[in-house]
Amino acid sequence: MSRSDSALDTAILTALRQAREGSVSGADLAQRLQVTRAAIWARIEALRQLGFDIEASPHHGYRLLSAPDKLYGDDLKSRLGQTRVVGREIRVFQETNSTNDLADRLARDGVEEGLVVFAEKQNRGRGRMGRTWASPAGLGLWFSVVLRPRLPLQSATQLTIAAATATRRAIHRVTGLEPDIKWPNDLLLDGRKTAGILTEMGAELDKIKYLIIGIGVNVNLASTDFPPELRRIATSLRQELGRPIPRPELAAQLLRELDEDYARVTAGQFEAVAEEWSRHCRTLGQRVTIIHGERRIEGRAEALDHDGALLLRNARGGLERIIGGDVMLDY
Ligand code: BTN
Repeated sequence: MSRSDSALDTAILTALRQAREGSVSGADLAQRLQVTRAAIWARIEALRQLGFDIEASPHHGYRLLSAPDKLYGDDLKSRLGQTRVVGREIRVFQETNSTNDLADRLARDGVEEGLVVFAEKQNRGRGRMGRTWASPAGLGLWFSVVLRPRLPLQSATQLTIAAATATRRAIHRVTGLEPDIKWPNDLLLDGRKTAGILTEMGAELDKIKYLIIGIGVNVNLASTDFPPELRRIATSLRQELGRPIPRPELAAQLLRELDEDYARVTAGQFEAVAEEWSRHCRTLGQRVTIIHGERRIEGRAEALDHDGALLLRNARGGLERIIGGDVMLDY
């Protein structure tokens, strides 16, 4: 598909969604988008082939009745509209090993920040601490965002915290559910993991060259879609809500909220993000055990530090700073 077809599809879907009467005529679309009516008709047919249910009536024109539960870059762009950074460009792959690896390659090749890469399926989805991340086809949101913040290295944790806050808000806005946050970046429903974030970066001296924020959300998985060993500790939005969630709608909301929180952090407003994070964090105030390499640290999680590190009151009464990265937290 040529670039202009892609831009046209985004524009047609946007116009259909914004149509005040619910429908928009072919002539109107052709005039607005500066193409022929035949070109509009051809793209409407192509969209129908992709699963968009578009009604055509001689009196009223085209009306979007429903969209498929599939991820298409043009559809996501149309839902998202204009953002500051996140989602400026969206690419969707049917299958890849890990969207973080793909995004990392693109970042090394110099892509602009804001690029988002989704995959319908990951063959080697990665979690933190070298774990694997189950990413079956068509059931979740598995994606990575390339960012190039002008921030010192130690601020990377701020962006992980921001990603967790944004993901929580998006899930809440679309489903009404209230996920808990477990430091630094797990989202839990009913004590079971629903979403996770894997932040990786390319650095140069003490500066972030690029940051890859990889997010996995278990959207429509049934219990049997998880590997047996995860069934007791993981859950999906569908399992918690009792009905499937339209993934494209949630995907667009996630990008909107990520764009919002990225703007907050880069504008020096991490405090506001941290405050929101703390309100939903189950870790704060709890006794926790942190396993950091060979080290085991026990204490009470007290607060977030200015850079997103966790402040832990240890048994001797001292305050320890726990930084993101290879830190595991159990409670
Ligand atoms: C964790 O909680 O351990 C982090 C899980 C992160 C999973 C996402 S899915 C999209 C991106 N690609 C990956 O390989 N991992 C992240």
